[in-house]
Amino acid sequence: MKRIVVFASGSGSNFETIVQKLHGKVCEVALLVCDKPGAYCLERAEKLGIATLQVSLKDFASKADYELAIIKHLQKVEPELIVLAGYMKLIGEVLLAEYEGKIINIHPALLPAFPGADGIGDALRYGVRVMGVTVHYVDAGVDTGRIIDQDSFKRADGETEQQSKEKIHAIEHDLYPRVIEQLLK
Ligand code: GAR
Repeated sequence: MKRIVVFASGSGSNFETIVQKLHGKVCEVALLVCDKPGAYCLERAEKLGIATLQVSLKDFASKADYELAIIKHLQKVEPELIVLAGYMKLIGEVLLAEYEGKIINIHPALLPAFPGADGIGDALRYGVRVMGVTVHYVDAGVDTGRIIDQDSFKRADGETEQQSKEKIHAIEHDLYPRVIEQLLK
């Protein structure tokens, strides 16, 4: 069975959905890489029985060294895909050189609009009526890689920000596992 590795920094709801929908059926989720000690995604991984690697950039002399340490673990797994799911660091040139074309990301906005760390907040502050989610390949830019798939919805009259956020996350949890399954075929 093909193996994938998920990178996350925070809550890990996308990671959990990917495990529940795909692990042991479509692929093996072989490892969760997390750059934030104590992040909730690590707890989820433990409950789900998925191996974890917690690495902190501050423990290394450079981003290149940090990424080389991650690559050592990835080489044991030989992942078909590296799936960024709320990993809030830019992928550096070392990881990119090793895995270009195999790293994908999910972004909570309709790229190329609202790239960056707060896609949902930026879209809401702009006052958009149509919101959505993008899955794309990762390149050296900030959310600039080739788009693989998107999904969207129109905000209802009177829809609260919280309701819109919940819709975004529901779309993510539907879209990302489907795209991963497609790419692994
Ligand atoms: C998701 O909404 C994802 O799209 C976003 O972080 C959230 C992680 O949620 N990623 C980015 O903003 C990347 N630029 P999760 O930890 O519950 O899966």
